Amino acid sequence: MNHFYIKDNRLYAENFLVEDLAQEFGTPLYIYSKNQILKNYREINQPLVNSKLDYINCYAIKANSNPEILKLLAEEGAGAEIASGGELYLALKFGYLRNKITFTGVGKTDHEIEYALKENIFNFTVESLQEIKVISEIAHRLGVIARISVRVNPDIDPRTHPYITTGMKENKFGIDSRDILEVFTTASKLPNIDIIGIHAHIGSQITEIQPYIDSVKYLIDLIKIVESKGINIRYVNFGGGFGVRYKNVLTHRYIPLEEDNNSSYPSLGGYIESVIELLGSLGKKLIIEPGRSMTANAGILVGKVLYTKQGELKKFIITDTGMNDLMRPCLYQAYHQIIPLVLSDTGYETVDIVGPVCETSDFLALNRKIQKMERGHMFAVMTAGAYGYTLSSNYNARLRPAEVLVDGDKYHLIREREKLEELHY
Ligand code: LLP
Repeated sequence: MNHFYIKDNRLYAENFLVEDLAQEFGTPLYIYSKNQILKNYREINQPLVNSKLDYINCYAIKANSNPEILKLLAEEGAGAEIASGGELYLALKFGYLRNKITFTGVGKTDHEIEYALKENIFNFTVESLQEIKVISEIAHRLGVIARISVRVNPDIDPRTHPYITTGMKENKFGIDSRDILEVFTTASKLPNIDIIGIHAHIGSQITEIQPYIDSVKYLIDLIKIVESKGINIRYVNFGGGFGVRYKNVLTHRYIPLEEDNNSSYPSLGGYIESVIELLGSLGKKLIIEPGRSMTANAGILVGKVLYTKQGELKKFIITDTGMNDLMRPCLYQAYHQIIPLVLSDTGYETVDIVGPVCETSDFLALNRKIQKMERGHMFAVMTAGAYGYTLSSNYNARLRPAEVLVDGDKYHLIREREKLEELHY
């Protein structure tokens, strides 16, 4: 069961009417469902649990790093995939064990490397030979050993938005397959470096299984070659990227069915299930780094209609939330289902649902067929729990929204709405 659902023509978050929460805390408002996050986490892990393989689920905290959500997953035993010193700080502060923290990214600064080495994190996923040399030097100076996994660029098309492909030749990520062997052999001779693993994260919002199968096969072949050179690989990390549904998340007689070219989505466990057999026989420990699939469908962004305006070509629904709260539509032309909090049969119209920011790219939806909405009506932008708040900004000196976590018949304000005095200027 989805923990956001419609009952009696109204949207609920677990046991609460979304309208009531929006009345209490105001809009724009992010609302998350604790039980949906836990469900996602367990579903993703299930095939790994069943396989009896050793694994670490390193939650990609960039997806949603609200402290309460971080704590929740740390308490469940998750590790953290981090992309900066700031994320390392958050991971440590909110309960992640050092031996479950893995640091990825093409541009780690010397300062960040030193910080992570001093904290003795489990693994650096390295993206160039130059970076490995810098890590080796700093580790040598500090008198510590850096455990590293080499990130490869397998040149696999994950068939997703071009801005979120990461394992193709034209992407900045990972090490080119032509250089990979040399990088392994050179790195294995560097002081204070312990090569523990191999890594490939090929992109995000991947809705097919095949790119994972291709990527894992590539890794397996590579491991054989690397091990034949006397380098022992203990961990295989195939990243995250598991896609989620953004269209027809909720269906109802008053919600128009959305056209979706994807006829089927793998289940959350399905991505891992499909590669577990390939990996099972290897005898390695597995690492996964899911971000979006852990939190996306566990969050909504609630906004309110401020004005409606008929232009010559289009009708605009102007709302109190936009690109500074949820950047995805503007950045990736991302589609999010939008659901009025009170559904009725007032008829449909096709409109642009836009924000208040002074940019034409400030939209939540373009040419969207939706129930007629008027000033004061509230709506939910669905599947906004990942890369929503974390990508938000103070652009136009707007204040970031509040965040609420619902848990059955309890709810908590887990981040206050920003105040004018808190604005950075
Ligand atoms: N591991 C690495 C090394 C990553 O770079 C990422 C995401 C993940 C794991 C988690 O991927 P996920 O499971 O969330 O797909 N802002 C974009 C997504 C950017 C993903 C960046 N890297 C969006 O809103 O679609």
